[in-house]
Amino acid sequence: MEKQKQTASLHLVSAFLAMEPTDCVMSYARSLGGGSVTVDVQRFIWDHCISKAIGKCHAPYLKNFLKKLILEIESNRDDVLDELYELYSEFMISLKDDNTVKGNVRALKYISFLFPDDASCEDAMVRKMVVPLHCSLNMLEGDTGCSIWPASLFMSEFILSFPDMFSSKTCFEVGSGVGLVGICLSHVKASKVKCLHLPWECASESILQGLKPDIILGADVIYDPLCLPHLVRVLSILLDKTKSSSQLPRVGCDGAIGSSHGHSDGCGSRDVVAACDSAGNAGPIEHPMAYISSVIRNANTFDHFLALVNEANLAITDLTGTLQPASLLPYMQSYDRSSMRLFKLSSK
Ligand SMILES: C[S@@+](CC[C@H](N)C(=O)[O-])C[C@H]1O[C@@H](n2cnc3c(N)ncnc32)[C@H](O)[C@@H]1O
Repeated sequence: MEKQKQTASLHLVSAFLAMEPTDCVMSYARSLGGGSVTVDVQRFIWDHCISKAIGKCHAPYLKNFLKKLILEIESNRDDVLDELYELYSEFMISLKDDNTVKGNVRALKYISFLFPDDASCEDAMVRKMVVPLHCSLNMLEGDTGCSIWPASLFMSEFILSFPDMFSSKTCFEVGSGVGLVGICLSHVKASKVKCLHLPWECASESILQGLKPDIILGADVIYDPLCLPHLVRVLSILLDKTKSSSQLPRVGCDGAIGSSHGHSDGCGSRDVVAACDSAGNAGPIEHPMAYISSVIRNANTFDHFLALVNEANLAITDLTGTLQPASLLPYMQSYDRSSMRLFKLSSK
């Protein structure tokens, strides 16, 4: 298959499985068909997207996608595959409501990270890492930790782009949400992943000191001014170099949840993911450091965070622009990387 079609088919399947907006999936379908959704493209969609998703994918999403697909094919006066009509009519009977994002609906999304093997080569194959995750479809319903926020996509790209930075390190994520970052840490050889319920307000100093991570991670955790003092307290204990991993005896990881699958705790996701390598050891690292990915929605909230960081005697560096992760989610049109910021924090 020529390169352009290969890319369009890969993006089509990846976008569909990640439940990207149906218009985005349709654009890849058109591009695969050279401008229209031909019978061959319909067959491809049936074989590689729909038939694999039946019973697993969120049914209203599938129904909505089928509706768009059929309408577009009909409006071009092309033939529609019988299978598409049949499945859509089944949904017409079984699913009365067209609203895909009503209430606190959870769905299984598959996030595909695409690694080009050799970008300079025309026929380069693409390696894929697919992460299934149960998440909320509505960011405004339920706890914020039930959705996948763009900052965790960015943090995941960061980890997967620079695996050596994390592979032999004990890592600890604050505010892990549905756990995508922990799964990526596990992929780069932090083989044991453990979920802790650890509200920042009541995480005791002794528990935090016992964790001794080399690297602390946080994706989209700077947004609530009331929580920020607690978050900064947690960070400053974890970053305290006088009690860091290089100064204190290391605690090994226990064998809790070794998950390479999406995991949602369903309890508001005030959880933390800790990860270490298979031997429970980390590679040499001078002092612990934290990486925080964030969208700055409110400048005052962010300035408040900076002031607290300064009061806590922590150093913060803006790495945006200097440490750019590879773009591993090129099909995800809903993900705006341009608004992402990456910060490094350490103890002064
Ligand atoms: C916007 S979500 C980001 C989730 C995930 N990191 C992502 O980017 O998809 C913020 C996360 O911080 C957690 N969180 C917020 N306040 C917290 C607190 N006081 N203690 C512990 N976790 C908190 C939430 O439960 C949620 O998991």
